[in-house]
Amino acid sequence: MINEQIENILNEQINKEFYSAYLYLAMSAFFNESGFFGLANWTKVQAREEIDHGMIIFDHILERNGDVMLKEINAPDVEFTTPLEVFTLAYEHEKTVTASIDEIAKDSQDECDFATRNFINWYIKEQIEEEAQTLDIVNRLKLFGDDKAALYHIDAELGLRVYEPPAL
Ligand code: FEO
Repeated sequence: MINEQIENILNEQINKEFYSAYLYLAMSAFFNESGFFGLANWTKVQAREEIDHGMIIFDHILERNGDVMLKEINAPDVEFTTPLEVFTLAYEHEKTVTASIDEIAKDSQDECDFATRNFINWYIKEQIEEEAQTLDIVNRLKLFGDDKAALYHIDAELGLRVYEPPAL
């Protein structure tokens, strides 16, 4: 059984993960319309991963005999201009997600919900990767983004990303 506080914070996290999917989909649409098909692919694959993140929490709540409460997903209210700006936003967004995952770890520890505390470890590890990946792209765009040939290669490389279901 899961207590109400943990149930609420996990339901909020489902919403944040689905919002993340929306945000990456908005980025993907922008890149597609701008002709950056590799960046469009990368962000679209990321959106699918975000849906997985939400679904894993969905299953956890049900497995613990809790109630899933789906909330409204906000539309991403952002205007994109350049690849560097978009990935900077992605990196900043991932840092906020890390903070909310850390909050779940803290609350589940405080509430002695050790099943959730253990469950959330996967997300703590995942967030290290999510921050590192987006920061790596930010740094490469900062270094080479003004060079059209280099930007072409970055786009081609990110176009190779393939969706893989999460390994739990
Ligand atoms: Fe599910 Fe990008 O955090």
